Amino acid sequence: MTRINSLVAAGAENGPYLWKDGKILPWGDATVHVTAVGHSSVSSVFEGIKAYWNPEHEELYVFRLADHMRRLLESNRIARLDQSMDVGGLVEATIDLLRANEARRDTYIRPWTFIPGVVREQIAPAGTVVETVIDTWPFESQRGTARGCRAAISSWARINDRSMPPRVKAFANYHNSRLATAEARENGHDWPIMLNEAGKVTEGPGACIAFVHDGTVITPSLTSGVLDSITRSVFLDVVSTDLQMPVEEREVDRTELYVADELFFIGTGWEILPITAIDGLAVGEGRMGEIARAFDKRYHSIVRGNDPSRLAWLTPVWG
Ligand SMILES: Cc1ncc(COP(=O)(O)O)c(C=O)c1O
Repeated sequence: MTRINSLVAAGAENGPYLWKDGKILPWGDATVHVTAVGHSSVSSVFEGIKAYWNPEHEELYVFRLADHMRRLLESNRIARLDQSMDVGGLVEATIDLLRANEARRDTYIRPWTFIPGVVREQIAPAGTVVETVIDTWPFESQRGTARGCRAAISSWARINDRSMPPRVKAFANYHNSRLATAEARENGHDWPIMLNEAGKVTEGPGACIAFVHDGTVITPSLTSGVLDSITRSVFLDVVSTDLQMPVEEREVDRTELYVADELFFIGTGWEILPITAIDGLAVGEGRMGEIARAFDKRYHSIVRGNDPSRLAWLTPVWG
Protein backbone atom coordinates (compact mmCIF):
# COMPACT_ATOMS: atom_id res chain seq x y z
CA MET A 1 0.00 0.00 0.00
CA THR A 2 1.35 3.44 -0.89
CA ARG A 3 0.92 6.31 1.52
CA ILE A 4 1.89 9.88 0.83
CA ASN A 5 2.48 11.31 4.29
CA SER A 6 4.01 14.68 3.65
CA LEU A 7 2.39 17.76 2.16
CA VAL A 8 4.19 17.09 -1.09
CA ALA A 9 4.68 13.78 -2.87
CA ALA A 10 7.86 11.85 -2.12
CA GLY A 11 10.91 13.51 -3.66
CA ALA A 12 9.12 16.67 -4.70
CA GLU A 13 10.20 20.08 -3.54
CA ASN A 14 8.18 23.25 -3.69
CA GLY A 15 8.96 26.91 -4.18
CA PRO A 16 9.11 28.89 -0.90
CA TYR A 17 6.15 30.95 -2.11
CA LEU A 18 3.04 30.54 -4.19
CA TRP A 19 0.67 33.06 -5.73
CA LYS A 20 -2.96 33.19 -4.62
CA ASP A 21 -5.49 35.75 -5.79
CA GLY A 22 -3.10 38.65 -6.11
CA LYS A 23 -0.84 37.83 -3.16
CA ILE A 24 2.47 36.02 -2.88
CA LEU A 25 2.16 33.79 0.21
CA PRO A 26 4.55 31.43 2.03
CA TRP A 27 3.81 28.02 0.44
CA GLY A 28 2.76 26.38 3.71
CA ASP A 29 0.27 29.14 4.60
CA ALA A 30 -2.01 28.53 1.60
CA THR A 31 -4.34 26.01 3.23
CA VAL A 32 -8.00 25.13 2.79
CA HIS A 33 -10.30 23.30 5.16
CA VAL A 34 -10.21 19.52 4.64
CA THR A 35 -13.96 19.40 3.89
CA ALA A 36 -13.37 21.63 0.86
CA VAL A 37 -10.81 19.34 -0.74
CA GLY A 38 -13.12 17.00 -2.66
CA HIS A 39 -15.25 19.79 -3.95
CA SER A 40 -12.40 22.02 -4.98
CA SER A 41 -11.00 19.08 -6.97
CA VAL A 42 -14.22 18.58 -8.90
CA SER A 43 -14.83 22.25 -9.65
CA SER A 44 -11.29 22.93 -10.73
CA VAL A 45 -9.17 23.39 -13.85
CA PHE A 46 -5.44 23.78 -14.20
CA GLU A 47 -2.40 24.09 -16.45
CA GLY A 48 1.04 22.48 -16.52
CA ILE A 49 3.82 24.78 -17.72
CA LYS A 50 7.60 24.50 -17.74
CA ALA A 51 10.33 27.09 -17.45
CA TYR A 52 13.85 26.16 -18.58
CA TRP A 53 17.07 27.64 -17.26
CA ASN A 54 19.78 28.65 -19.74
CA PRO A 55 23.10 28.91 -17.84
CA GLU A 56 24.89 30.79 -20.67
CA HIS A 57 22.14 33.39 -20.90
CA GLU A 58 21.64 33.31 -17.10
CA GLU A 59 17.97 33.37 -17.94
CA LEU A 60 14.89 31.34 -17.10
CA TYR A 61 12.52 31.03 -20.06
CA VAL A 62 8.88 30.13 -19.53
CA PHE A 63 7.67 28.12 -22.51
CA ARG A 64 4.43 29.19 -24.23
CA LEU A 65 3.26 30.94 -21.04
CA ALA A 66 0.54 33.09 -22.63
CA ASP A 67 -0.74 30.09 -24.64
CA HIS A 68 -1.09 28.02 -21.49
CA MET A 69 -2.89 30.86 -19.71
CA ARG A 70 -5.21 31.25 -22.69
CA ARG A 71 -6.02 27.55 -22.46
CA LEU A 72 -6.65 27.93 -18.71
CA LEU A 73 -9.21 30.64 -19.46
CA GLU A 74 -10.81 28.44 -22.12
CA SER A 75 -11.07 25.60 -19.59
CA ASN A 76 -12.68 28.06 -17.15
CA ARG A 77 -15.14 29.18 -19.80
CA ILE A 78 -16.24 25.70 -20.82
CA ALA A 79 -16.50 24.62 -17.17
CA ARG A 80 -18.46 27.81 -16.39
CA LEU A 81 -16.12 28.85 -13.64
CA ASP A 82 -16.14 32.59 -13.16
CA GLN A 83 -12.57 33.72 -13.71
CA SER A 84 -12.01 37.45 -13.51
CA MET A 85 -8.32 37.47 -14.52
CA ASP A 86 -7.05 37.86 -18.08
CA VAL A 87 -4.02 36.35 -19.83
CA GLY A 88 -1.85 39.40 -19.19
CA GLY A 89 -2.59 39.38 -15.45
CA LEU A 90 -1.87 35.65 -15.17
CA VAL A 91 1.42 36.03 -17.06
CA GLU A 92 2.47 38.88 -14.82
CA ALA A 93 1.54 36.93 -11.67
CA THR A 94 3.65 33.98 -12.83
CA ILE A 95 6.71 36.14 -13.45
CA ASP A 96 6.28 37.86 -10.05
CA LEU A 97 6.11 34.47 -8.34
CA LEU A 98 9.15 33.02 -10.15
CA ARG A 99 11.13 36.09 -9.13
CA ALA A 100 9.96 35.81 -5.51
CA ASN A 101 11.02 32.15 -5.57
CA GLU A 102 14.47 33.08 -6.97
CA ALA A 103 13.85 30.48 -9.68
CA ARG A 104 17.18 29.89 -11.43
CA ARG A 105 16.74 26.26 -12.46
CA ASP A 106 14.24 24.24 -14.46
CA THR A 107 10.88 24.91 -12.84
CA TYR A 108 7.42 23.45 -13.23
CA ILE A 109 4.51 25.88 -12.92
CA ARG A 110 0.97 24.85 -12.07
CA PRO A 111 -1.72 27.54 -12.19
CA TRP A 112 -5.18 26.39 -11.24
CA THR A 113 -8.56 27.76 -10.41
CA PHE A 114 -11.10 26.18 -8.13
CA ILE A 115 -14.31 26.96 -6.32
CA PRO A 116 -13.23 27.69 -2.76
CA GLY A 117 -14.97 27.32 0.56
CA VAL A 118 -16.81 24.56 2.32
CA VAL A 119 -19.42 23.55 -0.21
CA ARG A 120 -21.59 20.61 0.76
CA GLU A 121 -23.82 20.56 -2.30
CA GLN A 122 -22.69 18.16 -4.99
CA ILE A 123 -22.88 20.72 -7.76
CA ALA A 124 -21.55 24.24 -7.38
CA PRO A 125 -23.60 26.57 -9.55
CA ALA A 126 -22.26 27.85 -12.87
CA GLY A 127 -20.61 31.21 -12.51
CA THR A 128 -19.41 30.67 -8.92
CA VAL A 129 -16.36 32.85 -8.42
CA VAL A 130 -13.08 30.90 -8.44
CA GLU A 131 -9.83 31.36 -6.60
CA THR A 132 -6.66 31.25 -8.63
CA VAL A 133 -3.43 29.76 -7.34
CA ILE A 134 -0.04 29.45 -9.01
CA ASP A 135 2.37 26.89 -7.58
CA THR A 136 5.94 26.16 -8.73
CA TRP A 137 8.52 23.47 -8.04
CA PRO A 138 11.83 22.36 -9.53
CA PHE A 139 12.02 19.44 -11.94
CA GLU A 140 14.76 17.52 -13.77
CA SER A 141 14.41 17.40 -17.55
CA GLN A 142 14.80 13.99 -19.22
CA ARG A 143 16.46 15.75 -22.16
CA GLY A 144 19.20 13.98 -24.02
CA THR A 145 18.80 10.66 -22.21
CA ALA A 146 17.96 7.44 -24.00
CA ARG A 147 14.58 6.55 -22.64
CA GLY A 148 11.44 4.60 -23.40
CA CYS A 149 8.35 3.04 -21.91
CA ARG A 150 5.99 0.16 -22.53
CA ALA A 151 2.42 1.16 -23.36
CA ALA A 152 -0.80 -0.80 -23.70
CA ILE A 153 -4.23 -0.05 -25.10
CA SER A 154 -6.57 0.40 -22.17
CA SER A 155 -9.92 -1.28 -21.69
CA TRP A 156 -11.05 2.08 -20.24
CA ALA A 157 -12.48 4.36 -22.95
CA ARG A 158 -11.26 7.97 -23.01
CA ILE A 159 -13.68 10.55 -21.65
CA ASN A 160 -15.37 12.44 -24.48
CA ASP A 161 -16.84 15.78 -25.50
CA ARG A 162 -20.39 14.59 -24.72
CA SER A 163 -19.64 13.79 -21.10
CA MET A 164 -16.32 15.07 -19.70
CA PRO A 165 -14.66 17.16 -22.43
CA PRO A 166 -10.95 16.34 -22.63
CA ARG A 167 -10.45 19.82 -24.10
CA VAL A 168 -11.03 21.12 -20.56
CA LYS A 169 -7.93 20.53 -18.46
CA ALA A 170 -9.91 19.61 -15.36
CA PHE A 171 -8.45 17.77 -12.39
CA ALA A 172 -11.52 15.54 -12.46
CA ASN A 173 -10.56 14.24 -15.94
CA TYR A 174 -7.56 12.53 -14.41
CA HIS A 175 -9.81 10.00 -12.73
CA ASN A 176 -10.09 8.42 -16.18
CA SER A 177 -6.29 8.62 -16.59
CA ARG A 178 -5.77 7.09 -13.17
CA LEU A 179 -8.04 4.09 -13.77
CA ALA A 180 -6.31 3.39 -17.08
CA THR A 181 -2.84 3.74 -15.57
CA ALA A 182 -3.68 1.38 -12.71
CA GLU A 183 -4.84 -1.22 -15.22
CA ALA A 184 -1.71 -0.81 -17.38
CA ARG A 185 0.55 -1.25 -14.32
CA GLU A 186 -1.44 -4.27 -13.14
CA ASN A 187 -0.74 -5.90 -16.49
CA GLY A 188 2.99 -5.15 -16.45
CA HIS A 189 3.06 -2.08 -18.73
CA ASP A 190 4.11 1.47 -17.87
CA TRP A 191 1.35 3.59 -19.38
CA PRO A 192 -2.03 3.24 -21.10
CA ILE A 193 -3.24 4.63 -24.40
CA MET A 194 -6.98 5.10 -24.45
CA LEU A 195 -9.42 4.66 -27.33
CA ASN A 196 -12.57 6.72 -27.77
CA GLU A 197 -16.10 5.32 -27.95
CA ALA A 198 -15.64 4.76 -31.70
CA GLY A 199 -12.53 2.66 -31.02
CA LYS A 200 -10.10 5.26 -32.38
CA VAL A 201 -6.85 6.19 -30.65
CA THR A 202 -6.93 9.27 -28.39
CA GLU A 203 -4.06 9.93 -25.98
CA GLY A 204 -2.17 8.80 -22.91
CA PRO A 205 -3.04 9.62 -19.30
CA GLY A 206 -1.07 12.88 -19.28
CA ALA A 207 0.30 13.35 -22.79
CA CYS A 208 -0.79 13.11 -26.39
CA ILE A 209 0.62 10.61 -28.83
CA ALA A 210 2.14 10.65 -32.30
CA PHE A 211 3.79 8.05 -34.47
CA VAL A 212 5.86 7.69 -37.61
CA HIS A 213 4.88 5.39 -40.43
CA ASP A 214 6.75 5.18 -43.69
CA GLY A 215 8.20 8.68 -43.37
CA THR A 216 4.92 10.37 -42.35
CA VAL A 217 4.17 11.71 -38.88
CA ILE A 218 0.62 10.96 -37.73
CA THR A 219 -1.28 12.13 -34.66
CA PRO A 220 -4.95 11.80 -33.64
CA SER A 221 -7.02 14.83 -34.66
CA LEU A 222 -8.12 17.38 -32.06
CA THR A 223 -11.69 16.09 -32.33
CA SER A 224 -10.69 12.52 -31.42
CA GLY A 225 -11.09 13.21 -27.69
CA VAL A 226 -7.78 14.76 -26.68
CA LEU A 227 -6.47 17.84 -24.95
CA ASP A 228 -5.48 20.58 -27.43
CA SER A 229 -1.84 20.02 -26.49
CA ILE A 230 0.67 22.82 -26.83
CA THR A 231 3.60 20.41 -27.19
CA ARG A 232 1.70 18.64 -29.98
CA SER A 233 1.52 21.92 -31.90
CA VAL A 234 5.25 22.50 -31.33
CA PHE A 235 6.00 18.95 -32.44
CA LEU A 236 3.96 19.31 -35.64
CA ASP A 237 5.70 22.59 -36.40
CA VAL A 238 9.19 21.15 -35.83
CA VAL A 239 8.69 17.95 -37.81
CA SER A 240 7.08 19.73 -40.76
CA THR A 241 9.37 22.80 -40.83
CA ASP A 242 12.74 21.57 -39.56
CA LEU A 243 12.59 17.87 -40.41
CA GLN A 244 10.56 18.47 -43.59
CA MET A 245 8.28 15.51 -42.91
CA PRO A 246 4.66 15.20 -44.05
CA VAL A 247 2.21 15.40 -41.15
CA GLU A 248 -1.31 13.99 -40.81
CA GLU A 249 -3.85 14.89 -38.10
CA ARG A 250 -6.67 12.37 -38.40
CA GLU A 251 -8.53 9.43 -36.89
CA VAL A 252 -6.11 6.68 -35.94
CA ASP A 253 -6.80 2.94 -35.68
CA ARG A 254 -5.32 0.87 -32.88
CA THR A 255 -3.53 -1.45 -35.29
CA GLU A 256 -1.74 1.47 -36.94
CA LEU A 257 0.25 1.70 -33.71
CA TYR A 258 1.30 -1.95 -34.10
CA VAL A 259 3.02 -1.19 -37.40
CA ALA A 260 4.51 2.19 -36.47
CA ASP A 261 8.23 2.75 -37.02
CA GLU A 262 8.30 5.07 -34.00
CA LEU A 263 5.66 5.92 -31.43
CA PHE A 264 5.83 8.45 -28.62
CA PHE A 265 4.04 10.40 -25.94
CA ILE A 266 4.50 14.15 -26.16
CA GLY A 267 3.51 16.77 -23.62
CA THR A 268 4.83 19.43 -21.31
CA GLY A 269 5.48 16.96 -18.50
CA TRP A 270 7.03 14.08 -20.41
CA GLU A 271 8.52 16.28 -23.15
CA ILE A 272 9.01 13.36 -25.56
CA LEU A 273 8.79 9.86 -24.16
CA PRO A 274 9.34 7.12 -26.76
CA ILE A 275 7.05 4.11 -26.57
CA THR A 276 9.27 1.13 -27.24
CA ALA A 277 6.58 -1.55 -26.92
CA ILE A 278 2.85 -1.44 -27.53
CA ASP A 279 0.66 -4.30 -26.28
CA GLY A 280 3.84 -6.37 -25.99
CA LEU A 281 4.98 -5.75 -29.58
CA ALA A 282 8.32 -3.95 -30.05
CA VAL A 283 7.96 -0.60 -31.80
CA GLY A 284 10.58 -0.28 -34.57
CA GLU A 285 13.83 -1.52 -33.09
CA GLY A 286 12.45 -1.40 -29.57
CA ARG A 287 14.41 1.68 -28.53
CA MET A 288 14.32 5.46 -28.87
CA GLY A 289 14.24 6.18 -32.62
CA GLU A 290 15.75 8.74 -34.95
CA ILE A 291 12.76 11.13 -35.10
CA ALA A 292 12.36 11.10 -31.32
CA ARG A 293 16.03 12.01 -30.95
CA ALA A 294 15.84 14.74 -33.58
CA PHE A 295 12.78 16.29 -31.92
CA ASP A 296 14.30 15.91 -28.45
CA LYS A 297 17.35 17.90 -29.57
CA ARG A 298 15.40 20.66 -31.28
CA TYR A 299 12.78 20.92 -28.54
CA HIS A 300 15.43 21.56 -25.95
CA SER A 301 17.21 24.07 -28.07
CA ILE A 302 13.86 25.88 -28.48
CA VAL A 303 12.81 25.81 -24.81
CA ARG A 304 16.23 27.03 -23.60
CA GLY A 305 16.24 30.01 -25.95
CA ASN A 306 18.87 28.67 -28.35
CA ASP A 307 16.66 28.66 -31.45
CA PRO A 308 16.47 32.24 -32.78
CA SER A 309 13.47 31.42 -34.98
CA ARG A 310 11.24 30.54 -32.01
CA LEU A 311 12.11 33.09 -29.33
CA ALA A 312 8.54 34.43 -29.52
CA TRP A 313 7.42 31.29 -27.65
CA LEU A 314 9.49 32.21 -24.59
CA THR A 315 8.89 34.61 -21.72
CA PRO A 316 12.14 35.53 -19.96
CA VAL A 317 11.83 35.85 -16.19
CA TRP A 318 14.92 37.87 -15.32
CA GLY A 319 15.66 39.87 -18.47
C1 LIG B 1 -4.37 14.34 -20.91
C2 LIG B 1 -3.28 15.16 -21.50
N1 LIG B 1 -3.11 15.19 -22.82
C3 LIG B 1 -2.14 15.91 -23.41
C4 LIG B 1 -1.26 16.65 -22.66
C5 LIG B 1 -0.19 17.45 -23.31
O1 LIG B 1 -0.55 18.80 -23.32
P1 LIG B 1 0.55 19.94 -23.35
O2 LIG B 1 1.45 19.63 -24.48
O3 LIG B 1 -0.20 21.19 -23.58
O4 LIG B 1 1.26 19.87 -22.05
C6 LIG B 1 -1.37 16.65 -21.27
C7 LIG B 1 -0.42 17.39 -20.46
O5 LIG B 1 -0.71 18.24 -19.74
C8 LIG B 1 -2.42 15.90 -20.67
O6 LIG B 1 -2.58 15.88 -19.34
